[in-house]
Amino acid sequence: MSKKFYITTPIYYVNARPHIGHAYTTIACDTIARRQRALGSDTWFLTGTDEHGQKIQRAAEAAGRTPQQLTDEVSAEFRALWDRMGITYDDYIRTTSDRHQRGLQDLWRRIRNNGYIYKGSYTGQYCVFDELYVDAAGPGAPCPECGRPTETVQEENYFFKLSAFAEPLLDLYTSQPDFIRPETRRNEVTAFVKSGLRDQSISRSNFSWGVPVPDDPRHVIYVWFDALANYITALGYGSGDDSKFKKFWPADVHMIGKEIVRFHCVYWPAFLMAARLPLPKSIVAHGWLLFEENKMSKSRGNIVRTETILDVLGADALRYFLLREVVFGQDGSFSFDALVQRYNSDLANGLGNLASRTLAMITRYFKGEVPYPSHTASHTAEEDLVAILAKHTISEFGELFEQYQFSRALEQAWALVAAVDKYIVENEPWALAEKQDEGSRSRLATVLYTSAEALRIVTALAHPVMPAATAKIWAQLGLGDITKFDLSTLKWGQLPLGTKLGKVEPVFPRADKSAIERMQQMEDQGRAPVTGAASTTPAENVGSRTTSPGHTEPAAVPAGASQGSASLNKPAALVSTAPDGKITIDDFAKVELRVAQIKIAERVKGADKLLRLEVDLGTETRQILAGIAEAYSPETLVGRKIVIVANLAPRKMRGLESNGMLLAASLEGGKPVLASFLEDVPVGARLK
Ligand code: MSP
Repeated sequence: MSKKFYITTPIYYVNARPHIGHAYTTIACDTIARRQRALGSDTWFLTGTDEHGQKIQRAAEAAGRTPQQLTDEVSAEFRALWDRMGITYDDYIRTTSDRHQRGLQDLWRRIRNNGYIYKGSYTGQYCVFDELYVDAAGPGAPCPECGRPTETVQEENYFFKLSAFAEPLLDLYTSQPDFIRPETRRNEVTAFVKSGLRDQSISRSNFSWGVPVPDDPRHVIYVWFDALANYITALGYGSGDDSKFKKFWPADVHMIGKEIVRFHCVYWPAFLMAARLPLPKSIVAHGWLLFEENKMSKSRGNIVRTETILDVLGADALRYFLLREVVFGQDGSFSFDALVQRYNSDLANGLGNLASRTLAMITRYFKGEVPYPSHTASHTAEEDLVAILAKHTISEFGELFEQYQFSRALEQAWALVAAVDKYIVENEPWALAEKQDEGSRSRLATVLYTSAEALRIVTALAHPVMPAATAKIWAQLGLGDITKFDLSTLKWGQLPLGTKLGKVEPVFPRADKSAIERMQQMEDQGRAPVTGAASTTPAENVGSRTTSPGHTEPAAVPAGASQGSASLNKPAALVSTAPDGKITIDDFAKVELRVAQIKIAERVKGADKLLRLEVDLGTETRQILAGIAEAYSPETLVGRKIVIVANLAPRKMRGLESNGMLLAASLEGGKPVLASFLEDVPVGARLK
């Protein structure tokens, strides 16, 4: 019977649109799942979306949607992206689905009936951004994870007896060293548990967007308890049909980003222990994808959309780049330059070139049929060396892959590509082809057979990483459908002699400099608002696009506002005007004005008027660029509460994204004056 293999991605929050940070995790899982299938494992690959909680409820309010509308829209967007990328997920779980809610409530009851849930009251701080209880902090203290201000929560809650699990968890980490990977993460988690575990609040009662607590619907289940359960509810746990649960649970791998290690390595196994259910076999945490030195994230406004790369270079290029360039487990930088450079060197000039030159020569010199290598006079030690290297590559690649060392595995495979390239250059098959003697002919056959066989091996190994391109090379080699190939049988010398090649076509056309420019331009122009782009009307778009791309003046304090005496800068182009110049209340309601607090203010290099601000909106932190540097020095702004237009489409200035616009009175010939309040107002409050 074949081995079963169950792998999961985190389920993604629907307050942000998918970006290449999310794609990174999903690609890694898809690659692992594809390799497992190719090796013959009975594989189940789960992904989905995390749709409950205060953060989503607030994001929906900010976008003028119901939470259900927002979650339907963004969840569909994630799914459509995975489909476009050819991600081979077997199931897609949404936490708002009935099947999830039923299973989740069953898990709750089971833990409660086992005596690990009790009622108490929680007074303390809560970080809505991380959906995290921050026990040790006082009112207004920043979240230790993200630095955003926490909110004071005073609620009657249900508690989970986490404190009962410190010893069993520590035993688990020691007895199963592979439970948490890489080791650095295991050490962090161990230290955290050793420092003492407090019981954990697992319900909320001051908002409603969640799954009701069984038998007490005034409470909703804490979003992390809700989310973690997806890994079993998706398999039918707690439903009438739990055959998949029986077959696939426990998971072989939960793949996650490093910021959610604690939830997965402490809470999740403790919940499962309390429910007396088997534990996952391993939790693998990767690092972050950085863009311009920072974690790529919606709040920083430094995300790169996956679609841009798909449009210009295709999914395989992105998959290869991320797995080859980033040392798995560590943070890695993303840049369009590095992407294109890797693409050209390793794919266009590397594998692509090896494929096209080898196959073109077989077509030309042997009428498109794989030639017979000689075992006699024309066989030299060089062929043996290529064969030995190929055998070594097969085993090394497998071992490194099992340890999630994708970049090293690919490096090995590409060392084989380089060795074969060198072998071809040194043996000059084109020169051999010019000679008519039997020895040269036989040598030519040997050289091309050896090259084609090495190409086949690299193609088979790289298939899970670059499914589309390798399928083409495989077919060009005349081997049919690569997905039918049993990877566990891969060894040197299997290329059938006399195989008729398929139609030979280039697989990785070279990318020129314009590819970088095109991608950068697409990102500059195409960045849609973070939520709710679908409903942005053309009229609304006008407001954010009145300046030409590359324009370096700030969005704040638009020039048009400085015409009269002091006037509050209203983003007039956002709204349609009636013939008498007046707007309706509905028009005004489209503009989302909110109170924000400046957390960071700094000058922007090379732009005298521009300041880069990071402002807190209660639910998120935004980057805004504002042309107020001549009126305010950065240090005087930190801590100040201002008014911003929160639903303005993002735009780029000086390579930085501005996510909103602040309001200021603009005096002709004078300096802008920020709109502010005499009374204290909470951050995030809406002006209407
Ligand atoms: N909803 C929770 C997870 C619940 S799982 C039971 C969550 N969602 S998230 O949308 O914030 O996605 C987090 C995951 O997306 C990270 O753990 C990581 O896998 C991926 N990434 C998001 N941004 C990323 C980078 N900039 N770099 C790498 N991965 C990133 O947390």
